[in-house]
Amino acid sequence: MNKQLRKAVIAGNWKMNLLPAEAAALVEQLKPMAAGANCDVVLCAPFVDLQAAAAAAAGSNLKIGAQNCHWAASGAFTGEVSAQMLKEIGAEYVIVGHSERRTLFGDTNETVAKRTRAALDAGLTVILCVGEYLEQRQQNITVEVVRTQTKIGLAGVSADELSRIIIAYEPVWAIGTGLTATAAQANEVNKAIRDLLAELYGRDAADGAVIQYGGSMNAANAAELLAQPDVDGGLIGGASLKAADFAAIVRAASEG
Ligand code: PGA
Repeated sequence: MNKQLRKAVIAGNWKMNLLPAEAAALVEQLKPMAAGANCDVVLCAPFVDLQAAAAAAAGSNLKIGAQNCHWAASGAFTGEVSAQMLKEIGAEYVIVGHSERRTLFGDTNETVAKRTRAALDAGLTVILCVGEYLEQRQQNITVEVVRTQTKIGLAGVSADELSRIIIAYEPVWAIGTGLTATAAQANEVNKAIRDLLAELYGRDAADGAVIQYGGSMNAANAAELLAQPDVDGGLIGGASLKAADFAAIVRAASEG
């Protein structure tokens, strides 16, 4: 249970925002901040922005990620993008199983597992999102829901591969709502995820695993969340589109 074992990862999730030139400009704005960061900083861009974002980030501490990938390497999947395509274009990370994909686009724990497998096979690092709906929290089944999502999402992932998995705990009721989990709520669920990883992969692997919190994390609340012993970074939506706010969160992670 040693936070010193882990380097925090702050990841921006730009969602369906920014044209390629705007994406490149935001990367340029963030570069000086990233140079001094004592954490990993990832920017997850729309597919069509990846090339411009990766070109702008070249030679800096900023890493580029995508927001989804298909599980097949290639084939008749109109409108889809493979993990290998992402890798080829300069992405090093990919978000898998974001609640918007689960809720709006039919992702299930099983398809999340397939996407995770494909992303690892392509050499990407996965940001695997899990989190409960408000009704599930009210029914006191948050830990059960998150354990199931994590366990199935990781089906087929070996202990060696766990170093290329980041779990992002994102309560659905906190995403884009301005409602944030309290630091204690975030830490409780992150710790439950870490305990599950210990059951699956052993305590050492679990202690080395990066587990983020996401859901209305911003410049004002980041420090308190990131100071929690089991919160190893954040997945940031709205605040990642504003350079100053995102930089403040990275600073908080660098200090926390
Ligand atoms: P938010 O989004 O920070 O805007 O709540 C987080 C996310 O969806 O990853």
